[in-house]
Amino acid sequence: MTGSFPAVRPRRLRSTPALRRLVAETRIDPAQLILPLFVRDDVVDPVPITSMPGVVQHTVDTLKAAVNEAADLGVGGVMLFGVPSDEVKDGVGSAATDPEGVLNAATRAVAAEVGDAIVVQTDLCLDEFTDHGHCGVLAPDGSVDNDATLGRYRDMAVEQARAGSQLLGLSGMMDGQVAAVRAALDNEGFQDVAILAYAAKYASAFYGPFREAVGSTLKGDRKTYQLDPANRREGLREALLDVDEGADVVMVKPAMSYLDLVADVSAAVPVPTWAYQVSGEYAMIEAAAANGWIDRDRAILESVLGIRRAGAEAVLTYWAVELAERLRKEGRA
Ligand code: PBG
Repeated sequence: MTGSFPAVRPRRLRSTPALRRLVAETRIDPAQLILPLFVRDDVVDPVPITSMPGVVQHTVDTLKAAVNEAADLGVGGVMLFGVPSDEVKDGVGSAATDPEGVLNAATRAVAAEVGDAIVVQTDLCLDEFTDHGHCGVLAPDGSVDNDATLGRYRDMAVEQARAGSQLLGLSGMMDGQVAAVRAALDNEGFQDVAILAYAAKYASAFYGPFREAVGSTLKGDRKTYQLDPANRREGLREALLDVDEGADVVMVKPAMSYLDLVADVSAAVPVPTWAYQVSGEYAMIEAAAANGWIDRDRAILESVLGIRRAGAEAVLTYWAVELAERLRKEGRA
């Protein structure tokens, strides 16, 4: 019995919506979506981000409301980013380790507000907090000093854990950052605070709108620490190293242009593999949809489904709340 036409007709299983739903290989559950959120402490009203229509820089109050809304819809987690004012930025990113710095203070407020209803996660990186905009501290020659940066990450990690973050998103791409942060957390009694390693994070043009979102001051680029978009094996190597160093979850970022990495990494590591659908991916679909060039709702669903299908168990996406709402309404979650 060979599998060939006319006995074999793959279209059979596509013939009704109910059949298609039954044989769908990939599903999106709101619990597998994570909402990135931006917060600042120097405004009284949320500030829209022009290049990310529908996304705002929150005040602490509107942030709490946004996290509550996400929790009510069953969204799995939030990832918080602080947007400090320019006056507090300096060479070492002091505001990142100040317990009253915007991210730590907002995390404390959110954690107290939502308890266990949703996983509260924080971005652990210096770029929002430094006046030069790099993810680490600089050596006298102006290069990003890997080992000196690790000390800053350790201190940041402990402050974020104290504030109530349950999962620290290490996005700085310094060598040894996972091991350094793990040791610092354990040393302070935070054995149960988990590490999400942005293991394969590429030097990508698709972070463009994010730089507006956090008011980045970066001049130059991050090519000495983020991965070269040409490299696949190196991304896998980074993920394996991070698992060795104690990462609880690894991430591939961006998502859409790196689905081969999502597939490679998720197949190779014994920990959950997530992907970040970044600001530029969001902006592209929103802009094309606003022009009437693509069907917005279908494109959003398809883009996240593709990331899940490639092997990501959870997806960071700026559409997390909207998608969760839709999936519920359509009875798909
Ligand atoms: C670094 C960080 C960046 C993003 C998340 N964490 C920017 C960068 O590395 O330049 C980008 C996220 C996005 O574009 O949505 N703190």
